[in-house]
Amino acid sequence: MHKKVTKAVFPVAGLGTRFLPATKSIPKEMLPIVDKPLIQYAVEEAIAAGIETLIFITGRTKGAIADHFDKSYELEKELEQRQKTEALDCLNKIVPASVSCVYLRQAEALGLGHAVLCAKPVIEDEPFAVVLPDDLVHNEGVGCLGQMTELFDETQSTILGVERVPPESTASYGIVKTASDSGRLNRIDQIVEKPQPKDASSNLGVVGRYILAPTIFGELQSTDKGAGGEIQLTDAIAGLMSREAVYAYEFHGTRYDCGTKLGFLTANVEYALRDAELKQGFRGFLSALDIHE
Ligand code: G1P
Repeated sequence: MHKKVTKAVFPVAGLGTRFLPATKSIPKEMLPIVDKPLIQYAVEEAIAAGIETLIFITGRTKGAIADHFDKSYELEKELEQRQKTEALDCLNKIVPASVSCVYLRQAEALGLGHAVLCAKPVIEDEPFAVVLPDDLVHNEGVGCLGQMTELFDETQSTILGVERVPPESTASYGIVKTASDSGRLNRIDQIVEKPQPKDASSNLGVVGRYILAPTIFGELQSTDKGAGGEIQLTDAIAGLMSREAVYAYEFHGTRYDCGTKLGFLTANVEYALRDAELKQGFRGFLSALDIHE
């Protein structure tokens, strides 16, 4: 039976220690790129890809995420009274009425694989997407997840978003080896979580976009703790590969690793330079900067 991807999982229970103290009481996913929180970029990409149910795997101190996607009656009323129609419009567009949000609590921080497994009761027996909001992907055309759902329509198999990463950075990514190297979509024959550069079979790194067959849940249930003492999604995908086809897709787009300060700052600068209202002033400011070591 031909299946469509209509549910996406957003694992957002991480502590965000790299951004302390900013993330002491707000989730790292609420940090803004220009004027929009990271999680909203991820959600917009998913909705554009045809996702109808957003499943957030949350943890302590993540209440702001649920508030962000909820209606804010007082604020809307206030904006209405003051006739701030543009601001009101921007709030109304956050999540269309046809899209539902589900919040599940990951009681223990046992890793990405465990976070995905928490979504099993909501996903049941359907293919689904996983989007890691730290990985922000800019596209002028179809978004990264949209490209992947289009491909899933044809393959009906698990697809991982990948890109070439600097060979010295393999220990930050799931690294895949593909059976062939023709075009952007290739079948994977090996995947390893965060290998050291000397042990890496390639520099094709998995970024935070996955379309997974529901058979992944069986694999996750039997996956032991792996790298970092956590239940790794990568290890479950390795198990899945021995039973069914898993593809790597080199997506179109520019990825920013907003889980690091450098990636986060780079994204802010580049998104500001693309912003119609900001770009002129900001470019002027940047070119006048007197940069000393
Ligand atoms: C996770 C995955 C890793 C993947 C990465 C992409 O790692 O475990 O395989 O390459 O996301 O961002 P994390 O960055 O959460 O440590």
